[in-house]
Amino acid sequence: MRRRATAVSELEPVSEEEFRRVCEFLYRRTGMLFNEAKRYYVQRRISDRMNALRIASFQTYFAYLRSDAAGEIEQFINAFTVNETYFYREDHQLRCLSSDLLAERVRAKRPGEALRIWSVPCATGEEPYSIAIWLLENWPEVDVQDIEIIGSDIDTQCTTAAREAEYGARALMRLSPALIEKYFVPAGKDRWRVVSDLRESVQFSSVNIMNATETRQHGVFDVIFCRNVLIYFDDASRRIAAENLFEALAPGGFICLGHTESMSRISPLFEVRRFPDAVVYQRPGAGGNGGRGHG
Ligand SMILES: C[S@@+](CC[C@H](N)C(=O)[O-])C[C@H]1O[C@@H](n2cnc3c(N)ncnc32)[C@H](O)[C@@H]1O
Repeated sequence: MRRRATAVSELEPVSEEEFRRVCEFLYRRTGMLFNEAKRYYVQRRISDRMNALRIASFQTYFAYLRSDAAGEIEQFINAFTVNETYFYREDHQLRCLSSDLLAERVRAKRPGEALRIWSVPCATGEEPYSIAIWLLENWPEVDVQDIEIIGSDIDTQCTTAAREAEYGARALMRLSPALIEKYFVPAGKDRWRVVSDLRESVQFSSVNIMNATETRQHGVFDVIFCRNVLIYFDDASRRIAAENLFEALAPGGFICLGHTESMSRISPLFEVRRFPDAVVYQRPGAGGNGGRGHG
């Protein structure tokens, strides 16, 4: 747990107006929408930031935040993100990746052209490392194809931790002992670190999927995993994020969402593809299934 625990009695209550201003500030920068039901969560994070900075009044903190003194906006955003993740989460999509998606993408590419996979948001890195491990274990073409995997997140503490790649037992709970033995080295009591070859095979960066320029900084991808973030957005933010991700996909490229998320309700830009292991969304165009076999 990387956040300092704050007892409820220590919390400085924020007024209705202050709560609204903080939520609006966060929403405009990240797309994440917190409402009244999340008041305690919001309040606790503000208190943590104020305690860390030894600022006693909300007004002073909000002015400090808005001036972005000492990079406070980044720290503020880091404090609000929900970074829950673990290895081999929703692995039916990984199965779909190795059984169907990559074969279709390989057919669409020129010989020697790299296959590009983007995990955004990647939180602390479990998802992009899972993709790498899964392909090494389950995709027969892994040795003959050039594969690039990038993990990105708005939370800079997360991407720093992802590069470090050190995890506790909870993050590894869905991996077999054999996989842990093969891809991790012990790093202290109940801690394991991803082996260096695997660490070096995944690149990490900071990206806000609400920002079109940032979302385009890595060029276009064959497959994007954008799982379990749109649930924190409202419809307007989901649409903007979907449009940005559409632009970051090669024509015929695929996007996988979390199991509670559906692109059909967000944007008409994508085609729905139903594979045996997962429903995914596809940018229409060259290399796609040309309108065959939908539904
Ligand atoms: C619950 S985690 C999901 C991690 C992983 N995709 C998974 O499904 O296990 C949600 C992540 O979304 C990130 N996030 C929130 N808003 C974002 C934004 N606008 N751009 C990029 N990442 C964002 C958070 O920092 C957090 O790490």
